Amino acid sequence: MAFLVHLSDLHVGAINFREDYLLSAINKSNKLNPDLVIVTGDITENGYHLEFEKAAEYLDLIESPMLVVPGNHDSRHIGNESFEQLIRKRCRTLTVKNDEIKIIGLDSSEPDLDYGKVGRAQQKRMEEELKKAESDNLYKIIALHHHLIPVPKTGRERNVLTDAGDILKSIIDKNVDLVLSGHKHVPHVWQLEQTSIVTAGTVSSMKLRGKDICSFNTIDIQPESVEIMLNQADGNSRILAKYENKCKVID
Ligand SMILES: [Fe+2]
Ligand SMILES: [Fe+2]
Repeated sequence: MAFLVHLSDLHVGAINFREDYLLSAINKSNKLNPDLVIVTGDITENGYHLEFEKAAEYLDLIESPMLVVPGNHDSRHIGNESFEQLIRKRCRTLTVKNDEIKIIGLDSSEPDLDYGKVGRAQQKRMEEELKKAESDNLYKIIALHHHLIPVPKTGRERNVLTDAGDILKSIIDKNVDLVLSGHKHVPHVWQLEQTSIVTAGTVSSMKLRGKDICSFNTIDIQPESVEIMLNQADGNSRILAKYENKCKVID
């Protein structure tokens, strides 16, 4: 089995950033001792260097292996350069759990723009990595900030990846097991063919819809099933999705 924690949209530096929620989530994550923590972007509010320094301090509190990808807020005010200097070493393709799981991080951010794009160069790299992972019989995960498919109850769709169709085709063709995203601050799970497309809520920003509560996801991958839990800042948790594990490499 493998156990993952999925955090997103920290928004360090925002006026409505909740440090207590973030520290509580990190504390819970450390206690759960996951095989990997995946952070899907918007770690800062404005992309300012000082915000990245603070965000890096928080991320350093995470004791598990970690993968971080940038969000649109991280690429504001040449934040992409600060991300490069302070965070990039955490954004990479890696394998965990005795090389049974491969996680590919993608940068879908564009400087000073809110919409997302993966682009052809990254798509090519992703396809090559996925091809290799398929031949090595690995469980395959893609992590990127922007959502591939619109998320319910998030209003008029403006920020889905501009090349979503192309990326989705590659992901479905290559039998990716999980796609992890953030951005909309609304947790949701779509299942398409063999792929689960999972968005996390915001872990520590009060930019929320209605009575939504800050949260993070945990993903328990067992040989027969996969269970995705929503863990709210008020201490409540519930199952977001539970389904048969069609990838038989995890034991
Ligand atoms: Fe966000
Ligand atoms: Fe975002």
